[in-house]
Amino acid sequence: MEVVIVPDSAAGGELIAEAMADLLRRKPDALLGVATGSTPLPIYQALAAKVANKEVDASRARVCQLDEYVGLPAGHPESYRSVVLREVVEPLGLDQDSFMGPDGSAEDVAAACVAYDRALAEAGGVDLQLLGIGTDGHIGFNEPCSSLASRTRIKTLTQQTRVDNARFFEGDIEQVPHHVITQGIGTILEARHLVLLATGEAKADAVALAVEGPLSALVPASALQLHPHATVVVDEAAAAGLKLADYFRATYAAKPDWQGI
Ligand code: F6R
Repeated sequence: MEVVIVPDSAAGGELIAEAMADLLRRKPDALLGVATGSTPLPIYQALAAKVANKEVDASRARVCQLDEYVGLPAGHPESYRSVVLREVVEPLGLDQDSFMGPDGSAEDVAAACVAYDRALAEAGGVDLQLLGIGTDGHIGFNEPCSSLASRTRIKTLTQQTRVDNARFFEGDIEQVPHHVITQGIGTILEARHLVLLATGEAKADAVALAVEGPLSALVPASALQLHPHATVVVDEAAAAGLKLADYFRATYAAKPDWQGI
């Protein structure tokens, strides 16, 4: 995998937004897999600015969700459908038809998971999948010990993840759902380009294990090691545990300008 160390989250957002804009210039109807949480917000802001400045036309872009809480009432502001509509679909000026996600309020959740995997395949597959990383090493909501071959399915959140996400629910862990639908690791690995952004010191241990540790179901993000085109963008704080940080810096500095990530 390629590791790019940037000074801060704004620089990471700009770098990744430019990669997404470049993809859309080459493939205007690209299917963009988006993550939620705090980390990717600078990416969405930078991409929306490029659209507003007419640096890229995103009008034909398609967007798909990575995961969703199970059991939140329809329209709940912290459902990932609401978040993606608010942070990505509306700022990019897309209509809701260009957006797909798993149905977290389905009566038959297992069937909704199978249907979502099928819908992604029928849409031609994800061109670029954005990922964050949990402090426990999860990607999507594939918590530690998720099968590396898993498909979209229901998962139970760890206590750590519920604590981490309580900030989106008035700081009240009791409001954080226990269950989620998440693209499986096998599903995620089918995207053509994986781009993980990690910022802040709280992510340093998870990043080091994912990038430099062994491939392990205990660290789901280590599955990126299996992917032919995976890019990990980290700020200095999140890079703090990387033994090969200097090598990563030198490799990126030597890369031709035109090559992008
Ligand atoms: C969200 C998701 C999660 C987050 C991760 C980091 O769709 O899939 O894997 O990316 O929990 O969250 P933040 O960015 O809030 O630290």
